[in-house]
Amino acid sequence: MIISPSLLAADSGKYASEIKEVEKAGLKYLHIDVMDGHFVPNLSFGPNILKGIRKKSKMIFDTHLMIEKPSDFTEAFIKAGADIITVHIETSDDIDMVYNICRKNNKGFGIAISPDTPLKNLNKYLNMIDILLIMGIQPGFGGQKFIPEVFQRIKEIAKIKKDANAKYLISVDGGVNEGNSAEIALSGADILVAGSAIFGRTDREEAIKSLLYGSKIN
Ligand code: DX5
Ligand code: ZN
Repeated sequence: MIISPSLLAADSGKYASEIKEVEKAGLKYLHIDVMDGHFVPNLSFGPNILKGIRKKSKMIFDTHLMIEKPSDFTEAFIKAGADIITVHIETSDDIDMVYNICRKNNKGFGIAISPDTPLKNLNKYLNMIDILLIMGIQPGFGGQKFIPEVFQRIKEIAKIKKDANAKYLISVDGGVNEGNSAEIALSGADILVAGSAIFGRTDREEAIKSLLYGSKIN
């Protein structure tokens, strides 16, 4: 099981040491939520922040773009240090363009899907992706409650993936905590994205253990 801590919930006055802590705890991924105030009603990180934290960390920057025109910014985020670019299927932008920029730069490519979007919309992308990011909440804010219907969506995707013998990783983002990590993992998740369940606690190592223990998978 991969745990990808979401920087959105970290202390914004000390990103470098917050990242060091989860890196020291053995985590390999760092989830970076990019919001533009249009695609979602909130603002967060731009490429310049990635560039700054890139100098401080060797983690895999798992970059989740919740922005109106992701193709305009994909290159900038890659230059700044993103390792994986995940873009929402709900965007009206040209997803193939984002995909091509990622491949040209040898970076990972993912698709994110919000809770109300039909899973069948994913069909034409399933052989292009490295990561499928299933939202457990409506995107935009950390600290929300996991929507229970999403368990079934994860199971459906896991079945589609198995039937196709596909290799992409199923990542679940939003509302993940020690109380539901086991069920999310058993439903078929390979990656758990967690913001408040990690950075919202003082002992991060304990928090990570609880998520893993909760998921019953190491
Ligand atoms: C929300 C973001 C999530 C968020 C998760 O739009 O995509 O990554 O940070 O936060 P928690 O784990 O607190 O629900
Ligand atoms: Zn996210």
